[in-house]
Amino acid sequence: MSGTSPRLKKSPPSPDALASLGEIAGLSVTPELYLKFQRLIHQESGIWLGDSRAALLCGRLSRRLRELKLSSLDQYYDVVLDPSQHEERIAMIDAITTNETRFFRDPRHFEFLEARAVPRWRSEAQQGLRPKKMRLWSAGCSSGEEPYSLAMLLARHLPAEQGWDVTILATDLSTRMLAHSRTGIYSITKAVDIPEPLLKDYMLKGIGQQSGHMKVTPQIQQMVEFRKLNLNRDPFPQDGLFDAILCRNVLIYFDAQARQNTLERLIRCLARTGILFVGQAENLSSFTPRLRSLVPAAYARDGEHSVY
Ligand SMILES: C[S@@+](CC[C@H](N)C(=O)[O-])C[C@H]1O[C@@H](n2cnc3c(N)ncnc32)[C@H](O)[C@@H]1O
Repeated sequence: MSGTSPRLKKSPPSPDALASLGEIAGLSVTPELYLKFQRLIHQESGIWLGDSRAALLCGRLSRRLRELKLSSLDQYYDVVLDPSQHEERIAMIDAITTNETRFFRDPRHFEFLEARAVPRWRSEAQQGLRPKKMRLWSAGCSSGEEPYSLAMLLARHLPAEQGWDVTILATDLSTRMLAHSRTGIYSITKAVDIPEPLLKDYMLKGIGQQSGHMKVTPQIQQMVEFRKLNLNRDPFPQDGLFDAILCRNVLIYFDAQARQNTLERLIRCLARTGILFVGQAENLSSFTPRLRSLVPAAYARDGEHSVY
């Protein structure tokens, strides 16, 4: 997927860009039909599929077609265009999105939280400069590893027994990913990504039929609220500002305009001393006047009192 602006895409992609398509999952797509899918997916999600991604479109939609007993993408396009087919449009975006994620992905961000943000929050709370209430947002949380990583880290360093009240809002547009997230169940192979002391305290190892799996403890699950939210279409949370927002490896799939709109709206949701984390590949250089870099891919609102 690419971030090229759709406004530059007035004509269908060249047949060359689509050359190998006949072979993908038995499906093919003409340049004209591909352009229609590009536009529909962009309209629904802000994701702009680059011209070289036609194979991805065929591959990822082939299962939907099989399930609906359709034999061509033309037929499928007619289905998803039907205004009554809201659920199928969601299923289409679900199939297209890339959901790759890991516990404690990009450890530098978690190290920054642990070494610099948490000590600052604790000291401010001690001085009565902030309440012991923290609110974080994992925007584009995929299958939940990111918000649960945050919850484990903060349960350890800002414990409820000391009066801290930490909540994490975790949102995604994919109903499939949100359903997985809510279970809190993961393959045991993912345990290697979790620091040992946190794994020991906050993950339950499955036995019997659950062997090979692990589950986050109820304490950690209760800290995270999962909600469906399309960053390009839905209103952002109105119930207070966030001390940190993680929107990592999501904006990279948006076109330039959608990325800019989303960033501006995210910045408006940040508390005065809030921190915005994005993915390592997501360049925020056009926002430098409004954001100050803290560590790679982590930013504070500029012009605000520097606390980190
Ligand atoms: C690659 S995953 C990133 C997960 C996690 N943030 C991380 O860095 O490991 C991208 C997620 O963004 C979600 N996503 C894509 N477009 C979105 C949109 N318009 N609104 C909300 N979520 C979106 C996808 O469903 C997917 O779960």
